[in-house]
Amino acid sequence: MRYLSIGTAKEISKIGLGTWQFGSREWGYGDRYADQVARDIVRRALELGVTLFDTAEIYGFGRSERILGQALGEDRERVFLATKILPVLPVAPVVEQRAVASANRLGARNLDLYQVHQPNPVIRDGTIMRGMRALQRVGLVGEVGVSNYSLQRWRAAEDALGSRVLSNQVPYSMVARSPERDLLPYAAERGRIVLAYSPLAQGLLSGRYDQDNRPANRVRAGNPLFLPDNLARAAELIAALREVAEAHSATPAQIALAWVIRHPAVAAIPGASGVEQLEHNAAAADIDLTDGEYQALADAAARFQPITGRAAIPRLARARFGR
Ligand SMILES: NC(=O)c1ccc[n+]([C@@H]2O[C@H](COP(=O)([O-])OP(=O)(O)OC[C@H]3O[C@@H](n4cnc5c(N)ncnc54)[C@H](OP(=O)(O)O)[C@@H]3O)[C@@H](O)[C@H]2O)c1
Repeated sequence: MRYLSIGTAKEISKIGLGTWQFGSREWGYGDRYADQVARDIVRRALELGVTLFDTAEIYGFGRSERILGQALGEDRERVFLATKILPVLPVAPVVEQRAVASANRLGARNLDLYQVHQPNPVIRDGTIMRGMRALQRVGLVGEVGVSNYSLQRWRAAEDALGSRVLSNQVPYSMVARSPERDLLPYAAERGRIVLAYSPLAQGLLSGRYDQDNRPANRVRAGNPLFLPDNLARAAELIAALREVAEAHSATPAQIALAWVIRHPAVAAIPGASGVEQLEHNAAAADIDLTDGEYQALADAAARFQPITGRAAIPRLARARFGR
């Protein structure tokens, strides 16, 4: 495992574990996953040196935090535990109550990273950051983070907090590269972190899916990347991943992760549907891509032009209802 070289009290692994899947019906992994597999994933992650664990109060309406906390047990004190608040009513007393509730579900004395899950569209961050400051003052929260923030809003959040907002958790993968424009340079320059979510594009970059084998669950039914047309368009990118994977005796998913975390300010938080995936993902931290491989993959990624936005909406409906 590799770790970020940033001044935090606890080390942050370059590959973390995303736990939206834990106890969330929309992934469709079932009861055995929530009751047993999720725990096994966490225990194995600890053995492999993963220290970054990401959850949110909204995942499974608190179930993810509970499952994660139970699986970590006493080890929760030695990992970098990250959760998120949905800023629905972001006034200080509510923020403080919600942090306490998350910590209780996690069984944790404190939260290493408390993230604002998404920007509130009408209430500016001065409000929520008053609560965050109070939580830091009493030691319940170590670092403050944000998620799905633009650079401008990340900086405004820092101004409002009056100290560093350590991280911005955003979609970043070979098929979602907008953080390269401004978030990554900012993070690198200021000693901040970009936490890459959906780093495998929800499994697209594993190469496991194609037009004839589409994933069946609600999350991916609503993700235009899994439209038959887009799966066909992704074939060239998957082939490029396979080629590099072969050279490293690795899998396409591992190469996709190695590509994302090559940037020094990035840690990725892939989810996993089983222990073996977690093992592969953790091992990806140690893969060194050459400059040539990195660039060839970046070029292949740039050539992938999926159908998204408004054009995808009727196709998503057709794909879902079979018409
Ligand atoms: N802040 C936010 O707004 C936000 C939004 C989304 C996610 N997140 C966080 O980011 C985490 C990860 O994002 P995500 O779950 O959306 O996408 P992801 O990590 O790109 O994809 C996870 C899925 O990919 C497949 N997979 C994982 N490892 C694999 C491997 N080694 N080989 C083959 N397939 C593999 C699994 O699905 P199958 O086995 O079923 O194919 C798994 O459920 C979440 O758990 C959550 O913590 C945050």
